[in-house]
Amino acid sequence: MDRTGEAGTVIGSTGFELSRDGTDALIRSVAVAPDRRAAGAGSRLAMFALEQAAQAGASCAWLFSRRSGPFWQKLGFTNADRERLAAVLPETQQVCL
Ligand SMILES: CC(C)(COP(=O)(O)OP(=O)(O)OC[C@H]1O[C@@H](n2cnc3c(N)ncnc32)[C@H](O)[C@@H]1OP(=O)(O)O)[C@@H](O)C(=O)NCCC(=O)NCCS
Repeated sequence: MDRTGEAGTVIGSTGFELSRDGTDALIRSVAVAPDRRAAGAGSRLAMFALEQAAQAGASCAWLFSRRSGPFWQKLGFTNADRERLAAVLPETQQVCL
């Protein structure tokens, strides 16, 4: 999903991939344009992805994070076991890569 600004420019994105059985979701591509950050948009986009994944049947959400760990921890995420993630979401693009 993309959020489009008043001028038609994309100011943010989010998405997710589901496991084959639909119970696990890998949250992807939550990003906000640099000049629009720190105003709550990233949290709203993350919550939107989580809600959509839950509506699609997922009961557990995972993600890879390099530098935005504190952002995700504020939303309730905790450190996870990468081997477990790879086991439940083996077909996702990031795990394959
Ligand atoms: C991470 C990102 C999406 C946050 O977007 P945002 O619109 O600034 O987020 P919010 O305004 O909802 O911030 C919510 C809280 O997280 C904090 N936060 C945001 N990004 C952070 C970061 N990289 N590190 C630490 N804290 C961060 C904010 O300070 C804010 O804290 P507060 O509630 O105490 O004020 C944005 O910085 C971004 O696009 N980064 C580059 C892409 C990226 O790393 N995406 C994550 C992929 S896993």
